[in-house]
Amino acid sequence: MTFIIAIDGPAAAGKGTLSRRIAETYGFHHLDTGLTYRATAKALLDAALPLDDEAVAEAMAFKVDLAGLDRSVLAAHEIGEAASKIAVMPAVRRALVEAQKAFSGRIPGTVLDGRDIGTVVCPQAQVKLFVTASPEVRARRRFDEMTGHGVPADYLAVLADIIKRDERDMGRADSPLRPAEDAHLIDTSEMGIEAAFSAAKSVIDAALAH
Ligand code: DC
Repeated sequence: MTFIIAIDGPAAAGKGTLSRRIAETYGFHHLDTGLTYRATAKALLDAALPLDDEAVAEAMAFKVDLAGLDRSVLAAHEIGEAASKIAVMPAVRRALVEAQKAFSGRIPGTVLDGRDIGTVVCPQAQVKLFVTASPEVRARRRFDEMTGHGVPADYLAVLADIIKRDERDMGRADSPLRPAEDAHLIDTSEMGIEAAFSAAKSVIDAALAH
């Protein structure tokens, strides 16, 4: 049997960094499921196809190759916006969740991060973490990251964007963002990556010792 670590939380809470670090530490396969929504959205944008036609988006979702996902190609703001729009479509979610479930069975273990891993994709996961931080802290981190890369940014616009994205992710009818009942909450508002990692590590080590 494989060992699954499910990591959920809102945009810019630090899930990505934490997930990669955990996967590396335990030698597990990692899937950033946000990239599957982004890859579907980018394929639609590249082909100049509509973002509001569920059947068209579903067909694109079935073509996503999990081996070819690369955040640097999928990071653009407009791709994130488009991803969050098609992520409300049940047919798109069914197609991508099926691929994510197949991935989660890889040996010896997997780390999946997203919005609905502990609740829908892998409710059987041995470890569930819900990583969050206040919108202001997440906006500040995103702003620092952008300006650090020389990208001009406006803090209030970044904050407004994060709040809008949260509303869309938490407000949708199908698989809204919420912590699973048995998830461990890690609030990184006043915590650096090291502290977040050691909090996660204690939970994982305890589950592995079972
Ligand atoms: O984490 P991200 O910004 O790469 O995610 C892009 C969009 O995809 C986000 O708005 C919500 C959606 N998403 C989702 O609905 N379910 C997931 N498991 C992962 C991402």
